Amino acid sequence: MARLTTQFICQSCGSVSPKWMGKCSDCGEWNTLIEEVVETGKKKVDSIHQNRISATPAQKPSTLAEIPRKEGERMQTAFAEFNRVMGGGIMKGSLILLGGDPGIGKSTLMMQVAGFLESGKETILYVSAEESVHQVRGRAERLGLEKAPVLLLAETNLNEILVHARNIRPALLIIDSIQTVYLPDISSAPGSVSQVRECTSAIMTLAKSEHITTFITGHVTKDGSIAGPRVLEHLVDTVLQFEGDRNHHFRILRSLKNRFGSTNEIGVFDMNSRGLKEILNPSEIFLSEFSQGITGSVISVTMEGTRPILLELQALVTNCNYGFPQRNTNGFDQRRMTMLLAVLEKRLGVPMGTQDVFLNVASGLKIDDPAADLGVCTAILASFREWSVARDVVFIGEIGLGGEIRSVSAIDQRLSECAKLGFKRIVAPKSSLKEADLPAGIEVIAVTHIQDVFRQMEDWLAGISM
Ligand code: TYD
Ligand code: MG
Repeated sequence: MARLTTQFICQSCGSVSPKWMGKCSDCGEWNTLIEEVVETGKKKVDSIHQNRISATPAQKPSTLAEIPRKEGERMQTAFAEFNRVMGGGIMKGSLILLGGDPGIGKSTLMMQVAGFLESGKETILYVSAEESVHQVRGRAERLGLEKAPVLLLAETNLNEILVHARNIRPALLIIDSIQTVYLPDISSAPGSVSQVRECTSAIMTLAKSEHITTFITGHVTKDGSIAGPRVLEHLVDTVLQFEGDRNHHFRILRSLKNRFGSTNEIGVFDMNSRGLKEILNPSEIFLSEFSQGITGSVISVTMEGTRPILLELQALVTNCNYGFPQRNTNGFDQRRMTMLLAVLEKRLGVPMGTQDVFLNVASGLKIDDPAADLGVCTAILASFREWSVARDVVFIGEIGLGGEIRSVSAIDQRLSECAKLGFKRIVAPKSSLKEADLPAGIEVIAVTHIQDVFRQMEDWLAGISM
């Protein structure tokens, strides 16, 4: 007979423990165990299986060649950026999770995707489990989409939602959000680990059995993972993350997992009073505020997925007045910067131990491409020495612990993006340039060690300002 008992589930890895512990014994994270009431005493899965085994299975395996290719399987939206991040459109019948901080614009993006489906004829069911239909209509009106063929439903009971979806059979189903819907059969509260997991798997069954393309939205927790267990990410086909600084108007859509396309692709959007607008040339926008004459600012180019993006790196180096030197970064890994500071100190003899160092990736982008190392080091050096770097120079290169400048990926794309935007001089690792296609009209300066850069720095300055 079924019985209710209490157990503790780790929010980070999903492992179950019979008693509360400060630290998860599986993943080692602290304070992630959450109490939940679950049903126990159900029939053992094994015995259920034993009864159902049949000698003639319904399906037989086929060879790869026997399986026909399917074309026209993707839906296009009017957002080229969105299509690209999805791997060339939304794969029909897939389940996609859109994660992001509260208030970042998930509901807005979903409404715009629904309103801008290219065919414009298919039925879309938008289920809001957070807002009333009036609120959703108000948003659609603001976005100029009040005439879009979208059916609205404000409902939190997932069983009801599934019945509606089966009856309507929409081309696109949007459930906003996974943390506010619930299955009445599960006793824990909406948003709890077991609710989120069971709801997602019920939605997955619907998406696959009825071939309904489904989006679910989800809030992310403080540490950046999608609330609820990590298992959620394994359940769905695609995980998109919508990020950005709420004080900035840029929003970045990133694909973290994609069964139907490459990951690490990003799409850049601008949030204005009439919703999201895609930015097709992010480099131009990110550099628009770069002004020559400021010390400690340099331009570098980072690869985001398959796309090169030029951006401005700003450093501020000041005398340390409070004993322990500050190291602060925004948009760049702090530990990596600390390592680069040690390289500058050891290989160039720059006394970083007595300086506070602040680093900012302008425009709110977060980068983890090591090719930005050289840009970071030059920005720090430039701020320390009060140098203002010329506006037409770009710095590319990974820096090793010996101060050597190591090769970077996708050098051709990086160089051609720089040439396209009118940059004249590019400082790049010698080892990368051997087989590179050098675009016409630009001077490429090959460097092998951070000392080479330091020696030639004067050539690339706009003037010494104080
Ligand atoms: P929303 O889509 O509700 O965020 P989420 O679903 O991720 O919680 O968007 C919330 C923010 O976006 C809100 O602060 C207002 C802003 N916004 C605009 O700036 N312009 C717009 O056209 C819309 C609809 C929202
Ligand atoms: Mg919302």
